Amino acid sequence: MQLTRRWQWAGLAGFLTVAIITLFQYGPPIARQPISVSLDFNATAVVANSTITLDSTKISREISKFHLLIPATGSNHQLCRTVASATILGYPVPVFNGWRKEGDLDASKTHLAKVRNVMIYLESLPASSDDDLVLMIDGLDVTFQIPPDVLIQRYFATNKAASAKLAARFGNKYIESLSPDDAPRQTILFGPEKVCYPTDWARVGCWANPQNIGIPGGAFGPDDGQLSHNLPKWLNSGTIMGPVRDMRRLFAATLDRIQDFYDPNQEFSDSDQKYMSDVWGVQEYYRLMKETELFFHGDIDPNDVVPLGEPNKVVPPYARNQTKELHIGVDYLSGLFQTNAGSEHVVEFLIYNETGASNTTSATSVTRNVSESPNFEPFKIPLPANVAKSITALLKSIAPAVDAIPSVSELRLGTNIVTNNIYGMYHWTGDKDNMDTLWGQMWFYPYVRPLFNAAVAAMKAGQPIGVADERTWVSAHSLAPNSTGIEGIRAAGAWADIDGGWLGWEELCGNFEVEVFGAPEASEA
Ligand SMILES: *[C@@H]1O[C@H](CO)[C@@H](O)[C@H](O)[C@H]1NC(C)=O
Ligand SMILES: *[C@@H]1O[C@H](CO)[C@@H](O)[C@H](O)[C@H]1NC(C)=O
Ligand SMILES: *[C@@H]1O[C@H](CO)[C@@H](O)[C@H](O)[C@H]1NC(C)=O
Ligand SMILES: *[C@@H]1O[C@H](CO)[C@@H](O)[C@H](O)[C@H]1NC(C)=O
Ligand SMILES: *[C@@H]1O[C@H](CO)[C@@H](O)[C@H](O)[C@H]1NC(C)=O
Ligand SMILES: *[C@@H]1O[C@H](CO)[C@@H](O)[C@H](O)[C@H]1NC(C)=O
Ligand SMILES: *[C@@H]1O[C@H](CO)[C@@H](O)[C@H](O)[C@H]1NC(C)=O
Repeated sequence: MQLTRRWQWAGLAGFLTVAIITLFQYGPPIARQPISVSLDFNATAVVANSTITLDSTKISREISKFHLLIPATGSNHQLCRTVASATILGYPVPVFNGWRKEGDLDASKTHLAKVRNVMIYLESLPASSDDDLVLMIDGLDVTFQIPPDVLIQRYFATNKAASAKLAARFGNKYIESLSPDDAPRQTILFGPEKVCYPTDWARVGCWANPQNIGIPGGAFGPDDGQLSHNLPKWLNSGTIMGPVRDMRRLFAATLDRIQDFYDPNQEFSDSDQKYMSDVWGVQEYYRLMKETELFFHGDIDPNDVVPLGEPNKVVPPYARNQTKELHIGVDYLSGLFQTNAGSEHVVEFLIYNETGASNTTSATSVTRNVSESPNFEPFKIPLPANVAKSITALLKSIAPAVDAIPSVSELRLGTNIVTNNIYGMYHWTGDKDNMDTLWGQMWFYPYVRPLFNAAVAAMKAGQPIGVADERTWVSAHSLAPNSTGIEGIRAAGAWADIDGGWLGWEELCGNFEVEVFGAPEASEA
């Protein structure tokens, strides 16, 4: 890859680390337009009044913020669709990281800029934001499908289940002997990948990954080494969700790894995924060593422990008195993140219009024999209650604007028919040939314009996102303060980094409205 520009990045990691330490010591260099944080409303009152999917029995006074970060350098129709899907579903106003930045912060030149720009954002947040949640997504190939309240609920459920498995694996005695940072548990979720990419089986991120991911081999098709039949055992860094404090530790560890291992002569030296998956690989290698020590009650030789496989694998140095715990995990079941590469054959747009287990629930039938098992029997997937409730609330919000709103059981919902999840978002990894056709298939496509108007009204009213983890979630960033005077869609937009100010919809996406809303006559509701 582009050797000519590689030299430019050599040494920049070191520079950046200094820059970040400087930033950390002296605070973020912002004198202008601070990002508005919409907490100036009585959240308890708004929650009680809310028309969205809040379970009134679980209203919590504890309020946490949800941050949506999108590394993006400039606008195009794909970014506008990403922002539109986030906005209409009720996600926070996004912050673009690296917007029109130059040099080592220009993501169009190196993927590593993503790591640097997101770190600058994370470092700008005060300690009181440590337990906020951050969702970072690649801006040019992600489409949201389900609302943020359901996404956050799934985030907590997925990590709770994974942390319980870790507790069973290591035992409470060991876990309680460590600080919360060092104890094995899961708080950060990455998207899944069906092959280790960039592929280099010597790399720790390729061989030290967990082998038991809760899906049996063969579930995606005969275990024959074909990409599409593989289990999603590796990490994709295009979608990441976690708490601010742990995300800072993850990004700091990634920057350290870039500083230590950056080699401009190596292929993929500017792939953020390479460094992030290796940081995860080191965590998993350390977990494996600790687990073995707990059984062997003493020092062990790493060479006796490392998994078989690639004979030339690079084994990281092991220090028994350290942990490399960063609480990283992978969303193997795609409850949140569905990647495209190798998964086209397990993703279907299904209508949940059949009777489920009880007469009050809806379900859909799967008749395709993905596992190619001789005894395959068709089965039903129920529509999760929180998905039904949340999407129904969105549809109700446009009832005044459209002739007739559909029922949630008439919509086609993108579903992974192996893991049975109506995934949170689709991430177009791999072959992007069909990427442009996805937008028109989304359940919300016929209603993009009225949903957009309703979402902007909800944002102006400071409507919270929902309740999860016994906390009420609100958007970390809302519209520009002067947006109250602007009608409808044009009041929407995004914030550019911590210092770049407001990017209004017109400026960002005025040229791409046909791609977002469809041809004018088709979009009139
Ligand atoms: C917020 O609203 C709730 C419910 O209406 C009310 O009980 C509470 O006093 C309000 N708090 C403030 C600070 O206004
Ligand atoms: C609650 O809803 C009522 C009726 O729609 C409205 O008048 C009131 O302003 C709302 N209160 C809040 C805090 O949003
Ligand atoms: C860990 O052990 C090494 C020697 O094996 C020692 O140099 C280092 O100071 C120790 N670190 C801590 C945090 O105890
Ligand atoms: C569900 O929707 C499909 C596709 O529109 C239709 O063929 C089928 O008859 C529907 N089933 C029920 C039970 O309504
Ligand atoms: C479902 O509905 C059928 C027919 O109305 C009824 O016979 C059956 O008892 C119901 N089942 C449940 C679980 O409610
Ligand atoms: C499932 O697919 C495999 C391979 O195509 C085939 O051999 C098998 O008969 C199928 N099973 C059923 C029940 O359709
Ligand atoms: C609204 O405020 C933003 C900054 O918050 C500014 O960039 C923009 O020009 C303002 N727009 C209008 C119409 O005043």
